[in-house]
Amino acid sequence: MAETPDSDALEQRVVAELRRVTFPGMTRDIVSFGFVQRIEVSGDGEALVRLRIPTHNPGAGDQIRDQIEKRLATIDGLGGHRVEIEVAAPRQAQQKAIAQDSDLLPGVRHVVAVASGKGGVGKSTVAANLAVRLGQLGHRTGLLDADIYGPSVPMMFGIDDKPRVEAGRLLPFERYGIRIMSLGFVLDVDTPVIWRGPMVMKALEQLMGDVRWGDLDYLIVDLPPGTGDAQLTLTQKVPMSGAVIVTTPQDVALIDARKGLAMFRKVNVPVLGIVENMSGFVCPHCGEETAVFKAGGGERTAEALGVEFLGKVPLDPAVMSGGDAGRPVVAEPEEQAASVHREVFAAIAEAVVQGTESRKKPSLRIL
Ligand SMILES: Nc1ncnc2c1ncn2[C@@H]1O[C@H](COP(=O)(O)OP(=O)(O)OP(=O)(O)O)[C@@H](O)[C@H]1O
Ligand SMILES: [Mg+2]
Repeated sequence: MAETPDSDALEQRVVAELRRVTFPGMTRDIVSFGFVQRIEVSGDGEALVRLRIPTHNPGAGDQIRDQIEKRLATIDGLGGHRVEIEVAAPRQAQQKAIAQDSDLLPGVRHVVAVASGKGGVGKSTVAANLAVRLGQLGHRTGLLDADIYGPSVPMMFGIDDKPRVEAGRLLPFERYGIRIMSLGFVLDVDTPVIWRGPMVMKALEQLMGDVRWGDLDYLIVDLPPGTGDAQLTLTQKVPMSGAVIVTTPQDVALIDARKGLAMFRKVNVPVLGIVENMSGFVCPHCGEETAVFKAGGGERTAEALGVEFLGKVPLDPAVMSGGDAGRPVVAEPEEQAASVHREVFAAIAEAVVQGTESRKKPSLRIL
């Protein structure tokens, strides 16, 4: 009679196979997502696998079951299996997560969101340069790219590897003195955007809770553009010290900035101020400044909304090429044409530090 492997060994084989089952559309597996609730192999070699999956996608459970059954069938010595899958609406999962979230980032003093009412205004550019500048100014800083629609931080920092996992936790990348993690590292880029929505909260929870951020003074979060449900939920997931709203100088930007402000007020996150990006273009040939998109819109917007104006980032090809080349402009060597940006971002960083420190809870103050 052939010797039957013991239950423990079989359980380990089951875990190993489950680790090869990915969530549809994602590159991460169901074990590291935390979906597996129970694995048991009885004395006669029968396996029980129980999962709980927070998703709105009715087909996800069946797809995962299919994958699991195929995998389990490859295990020699397994007498049979039972796969129980509970598909829970993400709403419940979110509520649970929100309740637990004060512990999600225990080593982080301030989480600061960078947001915009609409896309393409330079939110990621501002988030990346602000984070690097905070780091250069001596603050321990991280950058979390939470943009479900188009994570751009991997490209802006020239990172095309997958993050390493150590003791079950993702290690952030280190570039220019800051720690970096992006949804782009765990999302399958070919996944249709509509599909990502329901999955994103789980993935983000992981990017915050399962990343070894270590001790940070600032974690800058690059939010998806817009002010819809996805953004709102994100701002509720972690206790945020404040938000920076990025806008362009046109007057119409006021409408979008106002929406951004309303969103943060709804969740009691203080708006630290407005940054005007793509402000006056300085001609590299003649040095003359042209207000491509009109002048002063950011300042007027800040005034109209009663929030601080944090600074203007000029429209400059160096900003764009820095982003494309994997090096934010403030990380350029001193002698390059970056000094103006270093000053602008130092001022913005300073305002962020002041804004967050002044709002610090009195109980945290050491007297
Ligand atoms: N001040 C600037 N000068 C020149 N180019 C800029 C400036 N700010 C941003 N850009 C360029 O504009 C493009 C859009 O910027 P970015 O990706 O930061 O915007 P975003 O608001 O994050 O966009 P999305 O909504 O797609 O996330 C990028 O190619 C970027 O390099
Ligand atoms: Mg972006």
